[in-house]
Amino acid sequence: MESIVVRGGRKLSGEVIIDGAKNSALPLIAATLLAENGCSRLDNVPDLRDINTIIRLLEGMGAVISRQGGRLEITTSVVGNCQAPYELVKTMRASILVLGPLMARFGEARVSLPGGCAIGARPVNLHIKGLEMMGARISVEHGYIIGQAGRLKGADINFDVTTVTGTENLMMAAVLADGVTVLRNAAREPEIVDLASFLRKMGAQIEGDGTHTITITGVEKLLAADYQVMPDRIEAGTFMVAAGISDGDVVIKNAPLAAMAAVVTKLQEIGLLIEPLSPEEDDDDELHEDNGLLAGVAVRVRRGLDGLKALDVRTMPYPGFPTDMQSQAMVLLTLAEGTSVISETIFENRFMHVFELQRMGADIEVEGRTAIVRGVAALSGAPVMASDLRASAGLVLAGLAAEGETVMSRVYHLDRGYAGFEKKLKALGADIKRVEEN
Ligand code: EPZ
Repeated sequence: MESIVVRGGRKLSGEVIIDGAKNSALPLIAATLLAENGCSRLDNVPDLRDINTIIRLLEGMGAVISRQGGRLEITTSVVGNCQAPYELVKTMRASILVLGPLMARFGEARVSLPGGCAIGARPVNLHIKGLEMMGARISVEHGYIIGQAGRLKGADINFDVTTVTGTENLMMAAVLADGVTVLRNAAREPEIVDLASFLRKMGAQIEGDGTHTITITGVEKLLAADYQVMPDRIEAGTFMVAAGISDGDVVIKNAPLAAMAAVVTKLQEIGLLIEPLSPEEDDDDELHEDNGLLAGVAVRVRRGLDGLKALDVRTMPYPGFPTDMQSQAMVLLTLAEGTSVISETIFENRFMHVFELQRMGADIEVEGRTAIVRGVAALSGAPVMASDLRASAGLVLAGLAAEGETVMSRVYHLDRGYAGFEKKLKALGADIKRVEEN
């Protein structure tokens, strides 16, 4: 097992380029299962453990996939095995995203129930309920979701709870259904807009993505298409906090600012200066060729002269403040002047990083889904343990500011969602390295 060792106190400076979004690439790769023939080419795919997992999942079904750098070439015309085995699904819950495409194209699926994870129970009942409303016969046997259907039928589906992958799964199920499907109280995340844009390039008829009501008119078949994954708004937000917490001055390139309004506003209110570079200064041609709304731009991030101010944070579905940025914002607030109240409204157990931050000298009290953060003058380096993907990023950020050395174990959590995180931070001047645990 590997650890990350970081010595705090360095002010980060220089440039970092944001990778493609994990939570867009995963549904996009699943969506290639819908193509009857041809080869889909996806660009700007990040190099992550989770991406490798879903590639193995599709290859196990018979898909032919090749990778050159950030480009994946995926042929699914020969898929014959509609199974997602427990061994793979248990390492990545988002494997559930193959359920919708398999049911749409093949009328059958055997997908392991994802089970819970560190941050919560993570049920998939709404995915299943929507498929049943579209005519699928679903049973759960020995930990597997078994789906059978003829051609799915359009349905009018209202989500009791706004669910990101639930919206994505049913959108992918509906594109080949007979008739019109309406998804109400749908999630509005930018990654859903990215997925809908790709599906339209494959020949799907979808309207309303990015709003609470998405209307899909089923078509007979979809063809392979080319697409570029949008930049990762959570990685971009994580590096904004890295610049602010280290009192540095960093240019973050290829950040999807148009998809980050809640994060940028909140970080500015805490005291960060976040300024887009002018077109002349931004020599990047990393525009999102398929979807201008989600284009990446360059932004300069520093800490303002007034220091960090305490602020309340409440995680909400998009366009609210994202739960995937909660631990990073909390770390910043541990050093802010005053008391902040953080409410985690999405997941029931997403404060695992609190107990590790307390070991670093943070003053935080947890009451259910609320954390009270009282600013302290400094954090101190300590051995800490990662519990989930975003918590581990938060602990590394804390190590950047802490006095002394922080050693974070269970780095595999970090590698699921951040490509070369410590390398990028080192290039910005951080004293950080990855070591084999003895
Ligand atoms: C997606 O997870 C993301 N994962 C998560 O990112 C993200 O934290 C989450 O959305 C919220 O934004 C991917 O996109 C691969 P949900 P998802 O379904 O879709 C309840 C990361 O760090 N719910 O929107 O699984 C659920 O319990 C990951 O990259 C049901 O009750 O989240 C939760 O309380 C972590 N029944 C709420 O909805 C269901 O059938 C939102 O969950 C489905 C969900």
